Amino acid sequence: MEVENTENKMVDKSVFVSTYGCQMNVNDSERMYSLLEMSNYKPVNTPDQASLIIINSCSVREKPVHKVHSEVGRYRKLKEKNPNLKIGVGGCVAQQEKKKLLKDVPLLDFVFGTDAIDELPKIISDLEQGDNKVVSTRFEHQKPYQIETLVRNPGVATFVNITKGCDNFCTFCVVPFTRGRERSRKLSELIFDINTLVKRGVKEVTLLGQNVNSYKSECGVNFSGLLKAVSEDTDIERIRYTTSHPKDFDQELADVMQKYREKICDYVHLPVQSGNSEVLQRMNRGYTREEFIDKAIMIQESIPGVSFSSDIIVGFPGETEKQFEDTLSLMDVVKFESVYAFKYSPRPFTKAAKFEEQLTEAEKSQRLHRLFEHHDQIASQLCKKYENQTLHVLVEEFNSKSRRLMGRSTQNKVVHFEGSEDLVGQTVPVKIIQAFAQTLRGELQFQ
Ligand code: 5AD
Ligand code: SF4
Repeated sequence: MEVENTENKMVDKSVFVSTYGCQMNVNDSERMYSLLEMSNYKPVNTPDQASLIIINSCSVREKPVHKVHSEVGRYRKLKEKNPNLKIGVGGCVAQQEKKKLLKDVPLLDFVFGTDAIDELPKIISDLEQGDNKVVSTRFEHQKPYQIETLVRNPGVATFVNITKGCDNFCTFCVVPFTRGRERSRKLSELIFDINTLVKRGVKEVTLLGQNVNSYKSECGVNFSGLLKAVSEDTDIERIRYTTSHPKDFDQELADVMQKYREKICDYVHLPVQSGNSEVLQRMNRGYTREEFIDKAIMIQESIPGVSFSSDIIVGFPGETEKQFEDTLSLMDVVKFESVYAFKYSPRPFTKAAKFEEQLTEAEKSQRLHRLFEHHDQIASQLCKKYENQTLHVLVEEFNSKSRRLMGRSTQNKVVHFEGSEDLVGQTVPVKIIQAFAQTLRGELQFQ
């Protein structure tokens, strides 16, 4: 198939994926590109160069259906110029809306769900053969969760899916509905996958799942066992993971992190969501404020120097001023280096969307603003501890203009310093000269 683009250049099969949302979606888009490359589609950087456009949507917090409508609307002119242009929607919105999306957005050619990514080459070839409007949004509950990591240029640090879906049903969250029941990948396949990435030059993997610490392999190995196996049975230099659920974070996991500290990073992303026990209960989080604090202390005592980050929702239905202040005061007790905070947004199918006492946008915005202000103060104090420390930094990028390197410390702090390009991929000692809340500036120490 040959298509004319807006600049009148003939572009053979070419694909542009527009990605919204979390790392899981970024990984999925990378998988789409890789699969379509195998079907001779060339990835391109702008939609006007593409003969195939895919919108990989997210519905965790945004007004996603709107976004899909307006993004597809922007492609109307391209489609008028080139009737062969195919436009599809994948990800959470596709899973949620299914056929309805095709009906509501007539410019669309296909819709595919979160479990149908591997069907993409077939979907496209059906379309090429003139199949009208495809939908593919069945959850795959039968087959085991087998997906080898597909990433075109893995670089120094990359992500590896270990679980998909979620069974926790937090009352605010759409993920159990858009990603289905939780499934874990086989341990042996994960080890093989990571070793393959190591051979491609990868130094750091982040094990990825909605709730990694409920991982259970086919032979009963839990998440601590998986971390131990990745540490012992692969040559990967660094291991991170995200996201862990506070209710499932146990002493065994903290002990494994401490024991394999050479490889497993001193960093835990532990979403608290709220600092008030009653709100936590209505969120169905499975822990109280006190239990969360106890867990954080347990982790800190087991892994001295560990750093934390967290997710917080402000303005959950019924959240009083006092309950919101409990979230602020929790941040004084458990000092998160980074906080990803969001205004509560009612999501389809979720219990909380039906709760009474929804807060106004203005109230939510005001609380979010106060929360960030409060955290800014904490973070700017907290980062000072890094000044004059020498951190081990895995170098990820070289900026040829500034001749600066960018890497991350084991605590997940971004560090900038001067150095040469050949250090990319190496772990080097860097003395921190100046600490800002989110990034550190340092000087390379010669080994
Ligand atoms: N409204 C606001 N934030 C949400 N999150 C998930 N669902 C919602 C929602 N309905 C946030 C949570 C979660 C992060 C990935 O997104 O904090 O940890
Ligand atoms: Fe959503 Fe809760 Fe599952 Fe996280 S643990 S994906 S917040 S339901």
